[in-house]
Amino acid sequence: METAQQPLQSVVWAGDHLDLLDQRLLPEEIVYLALTTAEDVWEAIRHLKVRGAPAIGIAAAFGVYLGVREVSGDAEQVQAEINRQADYLATSRPTAVNLFWALDRMKAKADALLTGEGLRDGEVLKEAMLSEAIQIQAEDEETCRLIGEHALTLLHDGIGVLTHCNAGGLATAKYGTALAPLYLAQERGWNVKVFADETRPVLQGSRLTAFELQQAGIDVTLICDNMAAMVMSKGWVQAVIVGTDRVAANGDVANKIGTYGVAVLAKAHGIPFYVACPMSTIDLNTPTGAEIPIEERNEEEVTEGFGKRTAPRGVKVFNPAFDVTPNEYVTAIITEKGVVQAPYGENLRKLFG
Ligand code: MRU
Repeated sequence: METAQQPLQSVVWAGDHLDLLDQRLLPEEIVYLALTTAEDVWEAIRHLKVRGAPAIGIAAAFGVYLGVREVSGDAEQVQAEINRQADYLATSRPTAVNLFWALDRMKAKADALLTGEGLRDGEVLKEAMLSEAIQIQAEDEETCRLIGEHALTLLHDGIGVLTHCNAGGLATAKYGTALAPLYLAQERGWNVKVFADETRPVLQGSRLTAFELQQAGIDVTLICDNMAAMVMSKGWVQAVIVGTDRVAANGDVANKIGTYGVAVLAKAHGIPFYVACPMSTIDLNTPTGAEIPIEERNEEEVTEGFGKRTAPRGVKVFNPAFDVTPNEYVTAIITEKGVVQAPYGENLRKLFG
């Protein structure tokens, strides 16, 4: 399906199936895939047709509904299948905690209806699963807008911002996390100059961030990852803002591979390094970054990404999809509930009340 809808929404509930923007094809092709089963959703997450922590969670929540909608039986039988489908979808990718957060929320909703309210009707439970997925998506849009409002208090008209990977509208329901303040800045008539790291090896920065900012008419300059130091040394950047896939309880931050290097560069140049994320990305059950599972992806992403072989056959390859930025490099974490600074262990706990 082709669409001219702007801004592009990565996950669209179409009444009886999920229309999913195939992010692998951007920016050249805008193609929506019709997903009808939990297996379709699992495959889309695993192969980065949908990516970005919040968008993965949203897609997975709809995946649970798609996985149970044909099940017949009473609420207990449907609940057993909800749990089975959620456990299956949880195996699609390991790092972004929003995936597990959304699946846990779907399970918890079912549990509350059965145990709390004594629900017996399987059909009603299935409809409740669809409503919960729609609700997760709606809340994410509002959450991202609030993150943008809080982040904007740290920025100013005329600022230069560098970002890594894609933490924009394409990675969320709308606005994004790291990119949300840039959209709000534009609404307020500010001039903001954005430098987008291309983000090797899958190029989320050039294919997605440069694309969505350009579509929105925001001043964006694409740079290769190894140009960030030079751009900073020229004084063109006054803030770095990135998203994250999981924040550990001590404030260590997992994000797209290369983020750690950007944080080190920011510190070396005296530039604040901000991390923007919903509360659902903060994982108090993971004590430090060392315990965050880091996905390793196939070597072809490095040796022949996008079809052209660029490395000798048989060469050894290391391809982690994420790295961990230690908390001492993080100037602030920006959530929908406000801006948090060190000491993160204490202040993140406080944020959860
Ligand atoms: O492998 P990806 O493209 O899913 O990685 C995405 C990122 O690292 C994003 O920065 C992160 O999920 C935050 S999205 C708001």
